Amino acid sequence: MTSADAVETYYQGQGLAGRIFSALRSEGHDITSLTPEILAPYDEFHVGGMPATHRVAGRLSLTPSSRLLDIGCGAGGPARAVAAAHGCHVTGIDLTGDFITAGGRLSAACGLQALVTLHHGSALEMPFEEAGFDRAMMLHVGMNITDKQTLMAEAARVLISDGLFCVYDMMQVGDGEITFPMPWASDASVSAVAPPDMYITAAARAGFELLARHDGTAAAKPFIDHVMATKPAPRDGAPPDRFRNLVTHIETGLLAPTELVFQKTG
Ligand SMILES: C[S@@+](CC[C@H](N)C(=O)[O-])C[C@H]1O[C@@H](n2cnc3c(N)ncnc32)[C@H](O)[C@@H]1O
Repeated sequence: MTSADAVETYYQGQGLAGRIFSALRSEGHDITSLTPEILAPYDEFHVGGMPATHRVAGRLSLTPSSRLLDIGCGAGGPARAVAAAHGCHVTGIDLTGDFITAGGRLSAACGLQALVTLHHGSALEMPFEEAGFDRAMMLHVGMNITDKQTLMAEAARVLISDGLFCVYDMMQVGDGEITFPMPWASDASVSAVAPPDMYITAAARAGFELLARHDGTAAAKPFIDHVMATKPAPRDGAPPDRFRNLVTHIETGLLAPTELVFQKTG
């Protein structure tokens, strides 16, 4: 069972916005006038980065009047990318306070503070009223949440009837043991990777119908190539890199980046 404190401890890192601003300054950017595209190498914490965010958003039939919830929004990279591209308001929620603080500064630097609102809180007990959103997305978050049933019940509670919910997580699709560290967990105690059927069953119990399932392995090729080019194989007994471990598991078919698109029934 993953604990909220252990997950937040794993992700937190003081001064994320400052570190991003400093990296961008050294690349020659004016940090008072940024865009989600400029920020994307630093604030999209999932396989496939910004193209994957737009792929997920593309499954949600968004319009400028959509009210989109991003569950486990991190520092708000996906939320800003979608708000800027579709002109809709995006509300994010994340367990890691540092990410929410950084996300506020990054949204302001993009001039997106009116369209993007980020909250510190748990996906398992969201501070939002019933049926307050018509769309929801969740990118690479379920791997840290053991209780998929409460996660799905909360998503269903805050969505309107017929509302759409797209999950994009690393899921277990083959037999075998995960070798840690992984990008989302230093060891098994903060990891809750599950097969697609576990999400689908929990979602059905919460009142969701599965509309579509997509395997994102082919789309992850640029990520895999980047990791293989930048993370050398460990030598002399050094521990393996977390991204290289992930690539190995994707290539051997143990894990797959997987998108599930649900619609709330009733
Ligand atoms: C790999 S990051 C992905 C962040 C973001 N979705 C993105 O793609 O940039 C996983 C995020 O899930 C958040 N998270 C994990 N468990 C959570 C929970 N129970 N409630 C809310 N957020 C959670 C972590 O704090 C972290 O920001």
